[in-house]
Amino acid sequence: MAVTAPKLDARRLRADFPIFEQEINGKSLAYLDSAVTSQKPRQMLDAMTRFYETSYGNVHRGVYALSERATAAFEGSRQKVQALLNAPEAREVIFTRNATEGLNLVAYAWGFPNLGPGDVVLVTELEHHSNYVPWQYVARRTGATFAAIPLDDNGELELAALDGIERDGQVKVVATGLVSNALGTVNPVEKLAAWAHERGAILVVDAAQAAPHRTVDVQALGCDFLALSAHKMCGPSGVGAVWGRAELLETMEPFNLGGHMIRRVTFEETTWGELPHKFEAGTSPIAEAVGFGAAIDYLTAIGFEAIEQHEHELAEYALGRLGELPWVVTYGPSADRRAGIVSFNVEGVHPHDVAQVLDFEGVAIRAGHHCCQPLMRKLGVAATNRASFYVYTVREEIDRLVDGLHKVRKAFG
Ligand SMILES: Cc1ncc(COP(=O)(O)O)c(C=O)c1O
Repeated sequence: MAVTAPKLDARRLRADFPIFEQEINGKSLAYLDSAVTSQKPRQMLDAMTRFYETSYGNVHRGVYALSERATAAFEGSRQKVQALLNAPEAREVIFTRNATEGLNLVAYAWGFPNLGPGDVVLVTELEHHSNYVPWQYVARRTGATFAAIPLDDNGELELAALDGIERDGQVKVVATGLVSNALGTVNPVEKLAAWAHERGAILVVDAAQAAPHRTVDVQALGCDFLALSAHKMCGPSGVGAVWGRAELLETMEPFNLGGHMIRRVTFEETTWGELPHKFEAGTSPIAEAVGFGAAIDYLTAIGFEAIEQHEHELAEYALGRLGELPWVVTYGPSADRRAGIVSFNVEGVHPHDVAQVLDFEGVAIRAGHHCCQPLMRKLGVAATNRASFYVYTVREEIDRLVDGLHKVRKAFG
């Protein structure tokens, strides 16, 4: 993390987000659930409205001005995703509905033809269901062995276990998140990529929780596929992207079939279009992709180093404040090893009750298994509370969380 990053002014940025102009339950909104989805800045909302009002048409279809304008905006967003990820080529960026669809695309289109008995598909115990269930499913269907890198007591991956896992067969896929949505752990993806490639395996990264908060460089990570969602990074819902190395994407069959993804259709056979169109069947999320591009512009102008630094400071502050409460247990690594996510439980109180009491105070947090049931089992809990931060989060919101927890304690203690 760069110590020199210019400081982010969360209070000033907050004014870009219309959602904060209202009160919730008579209180100003303390939104501490950005890991589930982020709020939207006016700049992104305006870009989508402007696009609908002036440039909307279907893409790659018409020869008239509007369609050409829409196509230019849509393809411009693809280039913004390419730049965001430092991807070698724009055609390696495929627009999807979300990160989940991107990960399914890889699991189906790469996994089914390349996996079989004797192969190992390796995920982690930290994984979100989106990067766990598709691989578990494809492994079961192809006869491959499904395995998971275990977690140590600090909530970090136990890389020493890799040697043992390797004895189960030929590792063909390693699928890991870059940042855990449940614990905030930052995983050593570069190390895993090197380990995977030494064995001829591919490395698939779920960057849904990383791309909003830190620089993500597919070449520096050394990965083969990487998926992300726009809605977690100030963009609209309904669009995401998966990046893949061109030489792998070229060898893969399409994931969805229909309009736009073909080269030629006859009764006897259909041939596929070029990248990225081969993987973009049907009408794309056009305005959403434009909004995704505007969100990338917004975050890039703030600077990802500044965002990472800001969230790191908030995580440190939150862990410190929660540490003052002996009846609160926190999960995951120390602040310097995690992103702006803090999971915790209040002794003897169900997380849903905690979240409900906090809602009365205008404090929005997540309560549940965070789509990480295997991790919850490992932690020995059914669910946790989770507070997560973003560019618009200010310390007072964390203070209000702590004040709210005192009320929870009073009500249930
Ligand atoms: C780490 C991680 N992976 C994947 C996803 C799935 O994202 P989406 O629902 O946008 O596909 C999430 C969403 O919470 C996540 O946090």
